[in-house]
Amino acid sequence: MKISVIGVGYLGAVHAASMAELGHDVIGLDIDAPRVQRLTAGEAPFHEPGFAALLRRGLDSGRLRFTTDHDELADADAHFLGLGTPQRADGFGADLSALHAAVDALATVLSRRGGTPTIVVGKSTVPAGTARDLAVRLEQVPGVRLLWNPEFLREGYAVRDTLSPDRLVYGVRHPESSGADGQAGDGQRAGAEGDASGSSELEVGMLDAIYAPLLEAGVTRLVMGFEAAELVKVSANAFLATKISFINAIAELCEATGADVTDVAGALGMDDRIGGKFLRAGVGFGGGCLPKDIRALIAGAEDLGLGQSVGFLREVDAINQRRRVRVVEMAREMLGPLRGRRITVLGAAFKPDSDDVRDSPALEIASRLMAAGAQVTVTDPEALENARHHVEGLVTVADTAEALRGAELVMLLTEWRRYRDLHPAEAAALVAAPRIIDGRTVLDPRAWREAGWDLRALGRPGDPAASPVAPVRLLAGT
Ligand SMILES: NC(=O)c1ccc[n+]([C@@H]2O[C@H](COP(=O)([O-])OP(=O)(O)OC[C@H]3O[C@@H](n4cnc5c(N)ncnc54)[C@H](O)[C@@H]3O)[C@@H](O)[C@H]2O)c1
Repeated sequence: MKISVIGVGYLGAVHAASMAELGHDVIGLDIDAPRVQRLTAGEAPFHEPGFAALLRRGLDSGRLRFTTDHDELADADAHFLGLGTPQRADGFGADLSALHAAVDALATVLSRRGGTPTIVVGKSTVPAGTARDLAVRLEQVPGVRLLWNPEFLREGYAVRDTLSPDRLVYGVRHPESSGADGQAGDGQRAGAEGDASGSSELEVGMLDAIYAPLLEAGVTRLVMGFEAAELVKVSANAFLATKISFINAIAELCEATGADVTDVAGALGMDDRIGGKFLRAGVGFGGGCLPKDIRALIAGAEDLGLGQSVGFLREVDAINQRRRVRVVEMAREMLGPLRGRRITVLGAAFKPDSDDVRDSPALEIASRLMAAGAQVTVTDPEALENARHHVEGLVTVADTAEALRGAELVMLLTEWRRYRDLHPAEAAALVAAPRIIDGRTVLDPRAWREAGWDLRALGRPGDPAASPVAPVRLLAGT
């Protein structure tokens, strides 16, 4: 099928190349001309494992190309929307301006197709109600139908998650008449304005044809109403954020009582009702999705007069922010006043295997240390260029050993494998003083302490040898 992908950032570029891999004829459109030029030249504009090879294969096959010209979209039968939906500058809500601008431009192109069946497929993460609004506008164009097909990919695994997702969710206007095979239906309301047929069969069939290789491979496809599809995505992110902040709240209790949060998390995770994923204490979540998605969910609920229903997400956000402050306090506890002290931060990306620095805990902490007068050096395998654009005056060093040389404190803030695998004795030989904060709870404290390091971690006791009487506080009563 002929497909377009509008907005070729992290999501859209991976989606475009993946659809070409499935055999479709794909054109990716973006208003960012340098990005389009780089993609056209086969150069990945971001670091994502497997993406560069996928891009190359798509370009070489002749099935993948990129443009800034909307007229080139005219013969596509399906258009995927991969626009950014960041937090608004004036509050918690999602900024949908890029999505609206893209839909306006697309509607003009679609109106020239003379009623040929065409689907528009939203992939961006949006507040509930967005698809229904956009459908009213788009479906005025004869032959055009909208679906919302939220994307669940994780940066670092984006290619794998796109080509082998846990599930496909289709949000449609009429879920109960979608022609879906027993997986459909949450009873969402149907028969909305501007739709003559009252059926979603056509658009579901067209999207099934695009994803045919995934469906044949056994991926489950769930058809539901627009609002349910929109809510699945934001709820998934809110749940993950809650799990992370939950263990970080427990880490705060562990710090006060002398318990080790890894003991608590390890035992908790063995309960299948809970599961061990997303229970690693540390400096918390960041990136272009979780923080803005929970805030958009709060804003959307407040607009509906339901602020109380998701009030706990404000606390989830607050716990997450508190960890970033706490780790700077920990640096002060180890070094005293930070002015002039040499601190090396391991990691700049918000997570390993990505160069994305949007709302990166590592960079925010580096900025806080710099604001306190510390001489900060940041190292990261992939994200230094983005980091320098993000934080003015940031000192970066690509080589890990060089970055460690002369440090009075090392802070591991993004758990790239190369930092998790650092050799404690070799690292000790490079630094000015062997002090480390493990902000991701990934190092073995015993091995590091045996090599002479003063290691601290969020939610874990300090070195028992250094302070034999732990500062234990009781949580209740006595
Ligand atoms: N990045 C992820 O891991 C991920 C995962 C799941 C869902 N999402 C969601 O997907 C959406 C996109 O996220 P992203 O991380 O890819 O964002 P991004 O900022 O990397 O990409 C957005 C792209 O849209 C382009 N754009 C802006 N206005 C445009 C217009 N009018 N016409 C055409 N292109 C335009 C931008 O130039 C940019 O290249 C968001 O809603 C996000 O929440 C992202």
